[in-house]
This record gives sequence, C-alpha cells and structure tokens, in this order.
Amino acid sequence: MMTTTTPATWNPAVFTAAVGDAVQAPSIHNSQPWRFRLGDDGIEVMLDERRRLAAADADGRMARISCGAAVFNLRLGLAVSGLPARLGLGSGPVLVHLRPARPRPPTPTEARLHWQIPRRHTNRGAFADVPVDPCGPHQLMAAARGEGAWLDFVTDDAALVSLAELIRDADARLRADAAYTAELRAWSTGADHRVEGIGALAAGAAPHPAELLTRRDFGGPGRAMTCDVARRPVVAVLGVLGDDSDDALRAGLALQNVLLTAADLGLATAMYSQPIEVPATRERLRAAVGRIHDPQLVLRFGYAPTTCYTNRRPVTDVIDP
Ligand SMILES: Cc1cc2nc3c(=O)[nH]c(=O)nc-3n(C[C@H](O)[C@H](O)[C@H](O)COP(=O)(O)O)c2cc1C
Repeated sequence: MMTTTTPATWNPAVFTAAVGDAVQAPSIHNSQPWRFRLGDDGIEVMLDERRRLAAADADGRMARISCGAAVFNLRLGLAVSGLPARLGLGSGPVLVHLRPARPRPPTPTEARLHWQIPRRHTNRGAFADVPVDPCGPHQLMAAARGEGAWLDFVTDDAALVSLAELIRDADARLRADAAYTAELRAWSTGADHRVEGIGALAAGAAPHPAELLTRRDFGGPGRAMTCDVARRPVVAVLGVLGDDSDDALRAGLALQNVLLTAADLGLATAMYSQPIEVPATRERLRAAVGRIHDPQLVLRFGYAPTTCYTNRRPVTDVIDP
C-alpha cells in the first residue's frame, strides 16, 4: 500500500540561512521592507509597513516588488538546501507563505542563480560602450517569463528617446515634491557602513544633465562626461499580467530571476522606477510599450565594472519569533 507523508518543515538553521539569502535582494532605497517567520507548517513573509516609503511609494508597489525579490532568493536558498518550497499567496500582513515540497537536489539553474545572490548588485557607474551579446535579451526575457512576467526590450531608437523623456519627466516631478526629496535624503545616508539606505559609494556620481537615462540622485558628487555611459543603452520594461498588489509581488519574483540571470551572464544592471512611481508617466509608459497592464520597473543591462555593495540589517532584525 502506498503511503503519502508530509515533508518535514525547515529547521531553524536552514531557515536562517535562507533568510540570509533573502535579505540580499534589491529593495527601493535599500529600505529592506520585509519580515520572516518560521512556523510549525512553514514560513511566512510579511511586508514591514514601517519601512514603506511614504512619499515615493504611497501605494506600497515598490515595497511589494522588493519583497517579491526577497521571496525569490528565499525560495532559492531553500531549494539548494534540498528542501524546496511551494509558494502560496497570503492575506492581511502576510504576503506569502512557503510550505515544504518534496525533498530533491537543486537543479543546476537553481545552484547557479543561488551562487549569484551575493554577487549581484545595482550598478550606478559608467557602463562600457560594448554591445550586449544578442543571446542575452532572450535569456532575460525567458527568466521573466519563467515567473509569469513580460520583459519588453526597447529596441527602437525613437522609443528609447521617448522612454528617456518619461524618466526625466518623472524624476523632475518627484524632485518637485518636498516630501519626496526629504525622504530620499533620509535614505541617502552617505555613510557606507550603515546597514540600510544608500551610502556614498553605492550612490555613484550625481546624475549629469546630459545623460540619456536620468539616474535617481542619491547625493553623489558630480562626474565628468568623459566617463559617461554606453552610447546605446540596453533597456527593458518589466511587467506582469495584472495590476493588483499581488501582481507587484509577482513582478518582484520575476525581477530577481532576471537580475540573477543577468549576473550569471556577466551583465551589470541598473533600475529606474521613477516613471512607475508617478501615475501619469506610468500610464504613458504602459501605452508606449502597448501593454494592457501596468509596467512595474525599467531595467538597464550592460557591461560595467563592479561598483559597490550595499549593506543589510542582520537577519536577527528581520526574523519574527
Ligand atoms: C522596486 C525597486 C525600485 C528601485 N528603483 C531604483 C531607482 O529608481 N534608481 C536606482 O538607482 N536604484 C533603484 N533600485 C535599486 C535599489 O536602490 C537597490 O536595490 C538597493 O539600494 C540595494 O542595493 P543592491 O541592489 O546593490 O543590493 C530599485 C530597487 C527596487 C527593488
């Protein structure tokens, strides 16, 4: 007679190691808006509302994308431990719960992406004027699709210029808001030893007015245009098939699959969320890419030297009893 057994849940050591992977995910302004709990039947991931950016992220979309990226890492960490997870959407403060699935060895892709978790970082430096390997975008689109998302590359020069205008417009609108700039300054810590926010090294140089893609100004020093970025940046827009808060979470899962795949391909990445944070530019961007649903993030890929890694709070700060 066949018997079915419920797989054992994770022990605290495996859980803590996987949370260590999760917290290395990207998050808006390095705000790390997540919490984790190991219960009798699995793991819960909560959004930490106290860490949502009140001005830049009133609806919590950016916090949810960040949490989705953390959940992707968490799931990878559990998979490489040999005890993978089944993911379910939560309710109330619980965004997702993870239940143990049948034990199995990690796949080669899981092992490779897991290895990239501490190597991936946001690059606000100068990208080299070297064309991206044509296979790269296909692999990145497949990574997005693997998590049920779309990743549309902006291949047309006129469309790229329009996208750049949308980013510039959104950035200017955001900077005109005193609450937004005060919040940005509070998270642009300048101090590289801080465990949250963006220090001086990670901030990179201040955006130059002549740059095509307006980077968010985290208060870095000005830079000479001689070391500026590639002539034809490779840019894509990420989205999912839906617009509600769970869809932002799904976008975060896809984002992290794309970012880790890019790191695996030796590609540097940068993110531009200004046009998503402003409803009017988000709608214009949606129309420009011809999608029914909201775009969730603008991404840039290319070749660039490693810049700087940001710090994280210790895992003990993000684990609930
Ligand atoms: C939803 C989201 C939006 C982001 N938006 C921007 C952005 O507009 N500009 C930027 O330079 N970085 C952006 N980032 C990158 C974060 O600032 C970065 O992930 C964080 O500082 C941690 O650094 P790391 O990615 O190097 O680990 C964003 C990240 C996420 C997850």
